[in-house]
Amino acid sequence: MSRLRRSRLELKTPDQLRQMRASGLVTAAALAAVRDALGPGAAAVELDSLAESVIRAGAARPNFLGYDEYPASICFSVNDVVVHGIPGDQVVRPGDVVSIDCGAELDGWHSDAAITLGAGELDPRAELLVEVTRRALWDGIAAFAQASHVGEIGAAIEASVKAAEPSFGILRDYVGHGIGTAMHMDPEVVNFAARDRGPKIRPGLVLAIEPMVVERGTATSVDSDGWTVRTVDAGRAAHWEHTVARTERGVWVLTEPDGGAAELAARGVAIAPLE
Ligand code: MF3
Ligand code: CO
Repeated sequence: MSRLRRSRLELKTPDQLRQMRASGLVTAAALAAVRDALGPGAAAVELDSLAESVIRAGAARPNFLGYDEYPASICFSVNDVVVHGIPGDQVVRPGDVVSIDCGAELDGWHSDAAITLGAGELDPRAELLVEVTRRALWDGIAAFAQASHVGEIGAAIEASVKAAEPSFGILRDYVGHGIGTAMHMDPEVVNFAARDRGPKIRPGLVLAIEPMVVERGTATSVDSDGWTVRTVDAGRAAHWEHTVARTERGVWVLTEPDGGAAELAARGVAIAPLE
């Protein structure tokens, strides 16, 4: 999302977090279906209807569809498109870096998640870009598990990217966000170390954490469709996102089937689910 102001934060009760988990699992299922269908020759519009049908089969609604008149259930962002690409006449080609962003609303509760994959074999730099961005997301989630202020998440994401590949850039004009009874809520969650340490983290805070990393420069432009965000220098981009709840004792990754257990254990952090 684009940048927004801070105000009162929506804190969820344990029961509400369980409802958000149900929404998150629908989004996870939609992304898993798209991931399995994504390969050279796959058509963007087919992947979009696949995601929509999985979401509706889960008794949920695609929350992207109709959001500010957005016309699809997924964002489909290839190569130099960073985010918010609209599924249209694109057909996946070998070597493409493809980001799929997807979300659901179930019983009034929103979830939002994104993955980036290579179609066929990627060149080594694209492979690195995808993996560095994925690891930065998980490092940001691990920070959320232990942080006292939201700003620590962006600091962890920036440190992760810079340590892995200093020449990569992190978008500043698009950021993560609070999520719950709406898809985009306060606070904003930047992906870099900022002077403002951000609001205090409390149990029940749910964030969509979503680093967007580019091969080269971070300048972007928006196509005439009003949505598609591209790098100005045509460098490729990766985008990974999860909807993550802070509970009394840690975090619960609502859009990951294992709740984040495997990735967080690898970082010495235990998940704190409410199941
Ligand atoms: N994860 C994207 C974001 O937070 C979701 C965009 S929904 C859309 O910006 F409808 F605006 F595409
Ligand atoms: Co989002």
